[in-house]
Amino acid sequence: MSHKPYIVGFGGTTRPRSTSEKLVAAVLAEAQAQGARTELFGGEALAALPHYAPEHPNRTDGQSAFLEAIRKADGIVIGTPAYHGGVSALVKNAIDLIADLQSDSRVFLDGRPVGIVVAAGGWQGAGATLSAMRDIVHALRGWPTPIGVAAVSSAVFDADGQLRDDALARSITSQAHQLTSFVRAQIVNETA
Ligand SMILES: Cc1cc2nc3c(=O)[nH]c(=O)nc-3n(C[C@H](O)[C@H](O)[C@H](O)COP(=O)(O)O)c2cc1C
Repeated sequence: MSHKPYIVGFGGTTRPRSTSEKLVAAVLAEAQAQGARTELFGGEALAALPHYAPEHPNRTDGQSAFLEAIRKADGIVIGTPAYHGGVSALVKNAIDLIADLQSDSRVFLDGRPVGIVVAAGGWQGAGATLSAMRDIVHALRGWPTPIGVAAVSSAVFDADGQLRDDALARSITSQAHQLTSFVRAQIVNETA
């Protein structure tokens, strides 16, 4: 098959060594290992996006680059920290910008698989935020993958930056597999 799935990830915080950003990068690395092309918009890129203002039609270069990547993506990974029981403002601002794709032939995230990644201080915040993110992805017409990646940050990486937990590593691999196989199944359907 000549078409490589193009998977775009965005998320994280402005914090150095943001766990949510590193987890998104880990899913993208797995997707790459499974033959995908990938691109990441991390915390720094998201922090450069102005507050989304639907009444102002002009977009910055950063906003346009983000929208173009989402427009072309075959699959998406969104990573957020749990902030006060939900999605952070930084990540939600990027999500809100996807409203600009309302008039596209593929509206918002229509038809695309979306992997969700959450880093939290505790399991209650992780679960609540994962669940909220699934509702957001549904509102954007995306298909949340069955496997969500949710983790308590203090337990994710060891001092060498390696994943501590085999179960978490497996969920990262599984989510990447669900993204790439969903895209490949669509390509087979379209060319049949
Ligand atoms: C403003 C703020 C609010 C937070 N609220 C929650 C919360 O409600 N539940 C929770 O489990 N963790 C909460 N945390 C902890 C973060 O989710 C956790 O530190 C996470 O790893 C941050 O993401 P990062 O590692 O990508 O920076 C909060 C942290 C901050 C700074």
